[in-house]
Amino acid sequence: MTAGPRAIRVEAPAKVNLYLRVVGRRPDGYHLLDSLVVFPAIGDTVEVEAGEGLALELAGPFAASVPAGDDNLVLRAARMLAAAVNLAPSAQIRLVKRLPVASGIGGGSADAAAVLRALVRLWHIPADTIDIAAIALALGADVPMCLTGHPVFVSGIGERLAAAPPLPPFWLLLVNPGVAVSTPSVFAGRTGPFSDLAPFAAAPTDASALARLLAGRGNDLRASAEALAPVVAVALAALAATPKALYAQMSGSGATCFAIFAQPAEAEAARALIGAEHPDWWLAVAPVAGSPVSG
Ligand code: C5P
Repeated sequence: MTAGPRAIRVEAPAKVNLYLRVVGRRPDGYHLLDSLVVFPAIGDTVEVEAGEGLALELAGPFAASVPAGDDNLVLRAARMLAAAVNLAPSAQIRLVKRLPVASGIGGGSADAAAVLRALVRLWHIPADTIDIAAIALALGADVPMCLTGHPVFVSGIGERLAAAPPLPPFWLLLVNPGVAVSTPSVFAGRTGPFSDLAPFAAAPTDASALARLLAGRGNDLRASAEALAPVVAVALAALAATPKALYAQMSGSGATCFAIFAQPAEAEAARALIGAEHPDWWLAVAPVAGSPVSG
């Protein structure tokens, strides 16, 4: 299937945890989090159009890494939405996979959120007839935040969302050192006491001020991810060593890491430096959604 003129297209931006604190654990084993999440202007694309039954076509550089069977999160999202409104699920879905999978930047969660938004439109489902946040949460703890697409503080296991203060323009360099790490294993390997909640109310005036706010907050899953995949520490060291990097951290449960830059040219220069040293790593530069694009 090539998307026709009537296809509905929805972008599925990466989600990046600028900081991530583990503040507790529920009796069912899920961890309680405190995180600031942003959505850089890079991601997968979902296209849907009318069809007989459900069909999923995969394209893009990471298409081969996506499970195409019935447990695919995109197909599960379509079936769950259809069941919620008593429809027989029918749609042709095309997923252009540009983000590495199992990498701490949303991936499958972003795709699931995008397909929900696209199918609500394709199937003309009135917003007040479904609890889309509940459907999203049933698909995965990261899916509700991916429905928002703008900077947001996340708590609970990922289902509680609170508006973030206005953020200054900044650019991210994303680095995935080519290893997939298992989210449950990273959570299970975390040791030490739980952190306190630390959302902030102040609006940082520039990227340096934002970096200072993030520096004290960190990512509580980082040590566990580094123990499972030591190359995460190599990627973080490479990011931190680039000129002009204001802050370097791991996103989610890894293995994707990022650095913050005030200017796109600085992020591009850092990408060139790291790419020369590690030609097999996945690297991407993107402004955060809502930030002006320039340079
Ligand atoms: O909800 P999702 O399928 O993305 O979570 C994958 C796994 O990650 C869960 O089964 C759980 O082991 C772990 N997890 C957690 N606490 C969270 C989110 C995920 O322990 N808040």
